[in-house]
Amino acid sequence: MNKKLTTQDWLRISERFEPGCMNWQAPVVWDRAQGAEIWDVEGKHYFDWTSGVLVTNVGHAHPRLAAAISEQAHRLLNTFDFPTPQRLALAEKLIAAMPPHLSKVIFMTTGAEAMDASLRIARRYTQKFEIVAFWGGFHGRSYGPMSVTGLAKIKRHFGPMVPGTILAPYPYCYRCPFEKNYPECDLFCLTFLDRVVEAESSGSLAAVIVEPYQGTAGFVFPPSGYLKRLEEWTKKRGLVFILDEVQSSYGRTGKMWAFEHENLEPDILCLGKGIGSGAPIAAVVSTPEIFGCLGPGEMSSTMGGNPLSCAGALAVLEIIAEERLVEKAATNGEYLKSLLLRLKDKFSFIGDVRGMGLVYGIEFVKDRTTKEPAPDLAKEIVLRCVSNGLMCGKLGIYGNVMRVAPPLVITPDQIDQSTKILEKVLDQIHHS
Ligand SMILES: Cc1ncc(COP(=O)(O)O)c(C=O)c1O
Repeated sequence: MNKKLTTQDWLRISERFEPGCMNWQAPVVWDRAQGAEIWDVEGKHYFDWTSGVLVTNVGHAHPRLAAAISEQAHRLLNTFDFPTPQRLALAEKLIAAMPPHLSKVIFMTTGAEAMDASLRIARRYTQKFEIVAFWGGFHGRSYGPMSVTGLAKIKRHFGPMVPGTILAPYPYCYRCPFEKNYPECDLFCLTFLDRVVEAESSGSLAAVIVEPYQGTAGFVFPPSGYLKRLEEWTKKRGLVFILDEVQSSYGRTGKMWAFEHENLEPDILCLGKGIGSGAPIAAVVSTPEIFGCLGPGEMSSTMGGNPLSCAGALAVLEIIAEERLVEKAATNGEYLKSLLLRLKDKFSFIGDVRGMGLVYGIEFVKDRTTKEPAPDLAKEIVLRCVSNGLMCGKLGIYGNVMRVAPPLVITPDQIDQSTKILEKVLDQIHHS
């Protein structure tokens, strides 16, 4: 690679050859990264609060992950559906980490592919087609997952969606659509779900699909108890409960699986992102009974379960266990949370800080009382943080939420240093 090119040179190449449809990012061209730190093509250093996009849970370029991938690259790259020791060892190890009922797994390449597979399985298994999904939910950009996504801007002008989606409000408590307060509301949104279904279902309900917390909507965490009650609602009606843990798993929330926080028992669990920590792999985990609805040749994917990604994903599981990354995410996450909450007390333009483990959203508002979203301010803060050496991004239904999701290997000292950068920027904004 030509190291002499500057950031601006690279960005001109991007503008010339790339379509500009990807997510907005601060103008940085990454060159290399290690653990929770990044260096750009000009050698500038950053602390990482992105993990790519909640992908590199074991840290960037973990030497053991890199070695596993590199060794595998010299041995065997693709067999299509022929089994390999890497795929089978990964399946065995992943299933060993699951609750007993989830005892079968098929590997895919992307989160969207896994979500799409889960929808197809639920429809085949139930022989019904309606999927209950949620406002603010995001499940990927191919037509199946996009159709059950509850974000209008993701679907805008892409024509008719796959029929059968029933969208219901998600408990975005900071902006409750019913203007109620938890816990007095007694989760009115769940009562309302009955009304939605009553009004919209043609009598062909197949499944409920939900994220343990909504990432793309702006790290929206449901109040405790909501997911368990939703699961009960689902099971009472004999529907398939699909949990989208594409971004919430692999230690991100301070537990290996986010479902552990509420002892959920999903019928289908979808994994992605952190499962390969950079190796492109995703997975659908379910019961033998549910997978039993598929016959030979009915679900498969050219790159799914390829030996390269499986060797990487196997190394990821080993690293997580040996380095106790789940426990670290929980304890270091508590520390990070305390610092972020301190910033919330200090700056009135922070409307909300929410999250757990090592995933937080900082929601910026123009006014704490009206809660009017401040997307331009969020953008300005992200740009200033990046130019001060903190890699971060923004997202959310209103584009006003800063994403705080460092690799799980971040140390307390790195948490201190990176939070100080944010505080310095917020001080500047406050005084400007
Ligand atoms: C919860 C969730 N589901 C599914 C996806 C889609 O994953 P991918 O981009 O790998 O297709 C994402 C990606 O951001 C996600 O956050």
